[in-house]
Amino acid sequence: MSTAPIPAQSLVGVIGAGAMGAGIAEVALLAGHPVRLLDSHPAALDKALRDMQRRLHRQAEKGRIKHAEANAAVERLQSTSTLADFAEASLVVEAIVEGLEAKRALFKSLAEIVRPTCILASNTSSLSITAIAAGIAEPGRVVGMHFFNPAQVMPLVEVVSGLATEAWIADATYRIAEAWGKRPVHTKSTPGFIVNRVARPFYGEALRLVEEVAADPGTLDAVMRETGGFRMGPFELMDLIGLDVNLAVTKSVFAACNHDPRYAPSLVQQELVAAGRLGRKSGRGFFDHTEGAPPPQVQNEAPASAPNRVGLAGELGIAAPLVERLATVGVDVVKLPAADSRIGKGYLLAGNAVIALTDGRSATRRARESEHPNTILFDLAHDFAQATRLAVARSDQCANGAYQTALGLLQVAGFAVSRLDDAPGLVVMRTVAMLANEAAELLQRGVASARDLDLAMQLGTNYPEGPLAWARRIGLAEVREVLANLATHYSEDRYRVAPWITRKLLGGAEL
Ligand code: NAI
Repeated sequence: MSTAPIPAQSLVGVIGAGAMGAGIAEVALLAGHPVRLLDSHPAALDKALRDMQRRLHRQAEKGRIKHAEANAAVERLQSTSTLADFAEASLVVEAIVEGLEAKRALFKSLAEIVRPTCILASNTSSLSITAIAAGIAEPGRVVGMHFFNPAQVMPLVEVVSGLATEAWIADATYRIAEAWGKRPVHTKSTPGFIVNRVARPFYGEALRLVEEVAADPGTLDAVMRETGGFRMGPFELMDLIGLDVNLAVTKSVFAACNHDPRYAPSLVQQELVAAGRLGRKSGRGFFDHTEGAPPPQVQNEAPASAPNRVGLAGELGIAAPLVERLATVGVDVVKLPAADSRIGKGYLLAGNAVIALTDGRSATRRARESEHPNTILFDLAHDFAQATRLAVARSDQCANGAYQTALGLLQVAGFAVSRLDDAPGLVVMRTVAMLANEAAELLQRGVASARDLDLAMQLGTNYPEGPLAWARRIGLAEVREVLANLATHYSEDRYRVAPWITRKLLGGAEL
């Protein structure tokens, strides 16, 4: 069965008038619906109504909407203290406290009141839609409608189907979100849905590097921003979200996935939470946010002198623009006859320094396996033509002179260089490989399509590129190699390669 999205004049109910409920109600109002808002705390309801009215009028003052539109929206907004007032609703969105029993009880009562065609949507960010729906007579009409904070601004809506959700309910919810000006994606009800699941390694890999004392948070953030193209680094983002909130999401995904080591919470983060260092809201997290505190320190290598000439062996793949950058600043790039496959498919040779993109091996291991002691590895950039910073690691055997030559070369090409300890996969590469691995896992499990996985990560987290598209640009074989090398390095199941990636490579098929 298929249905058109609900008409604009039909009643929408929103339950829970906190930050999310008020935002969702505002979106529905501006789409033309009459909206009834309910909250078990009258004070919360009053505050939400006042805030919404103020926001709508401010939007009109700023010229984003017409004054008449704002006034009409305010007139369409009603509050109520009884569920009976939702009897005529076409859609009810629940945004109450994040507790399974509370949500189940609410949906059970609602289902007895509303019409049989009314869509019952939950804005839960971590609970199973299947579990929420389980207690009610018609679980098929319960669906997740997961907005992001602030709901009135963020475009993404994850439309979540539980085991019982009927396809037409999910489709209608998708089209309602579209009609409200949002960018919906479909996902199955799986722990963390798309965004909160695929994003785990964004925090997890960086936390791990801090745990291993590979670099400090300020430097890792700078590399993730200036090399990786991410809008915010993982540590400043955790400080903004709240370390306790971020840890709670990780713990809930970890528990819901039967303690899969991929999602294991970080001990460093747990320590900070235990100490009450929750981020901005407590004045201190990874960074000091108190008035007048200095900005985070970023490690920068001192300037070194560049060689006039560099050899290029093989092809640099995604890092190829590096060669153009060197040529542009007058470095003579000489093509060498062949690449030594023990080092990799492509690399630069400056004096006796080997300079290569990370393949997930530590520089020390790569130096030993290739018998080139002076090995310097650099990180993945989102755009090697534009990036302004590059993280490097050098093998323990590397002579300082060779390292200085490599450093000078990268600096003359226009990069600020941050040295990390010899961390395998550096930071951007291992993070992106793990993000893509997670997305591939969800793809294999039929949780969402490749398009929706990528779209959700770009819209929900502002990543510069969807992880699957990014992996395709790096090369699936290269991503697989990074993961396999990380798995060898750590002897941990955390880095196991998603079978979907291996399967695609064996079949030679495109993403
Ligand atoms: P909040 O704590 O700001 O608001 C929840 C509101 O629900 C409160 O005003 C409370 O009085 C009311 N409430 C609690 N139990 C109720 C009940 N049984 N009946 C009626 N009202 C009840 O919470 P927030 O942040 O707005 O989150 C609401 C929901 O949205 C949660 O499920 C949360 O996981 C989800 N969510 C939150 C996001 C966020 O960033 N805050 C993002 C996406 C989803």
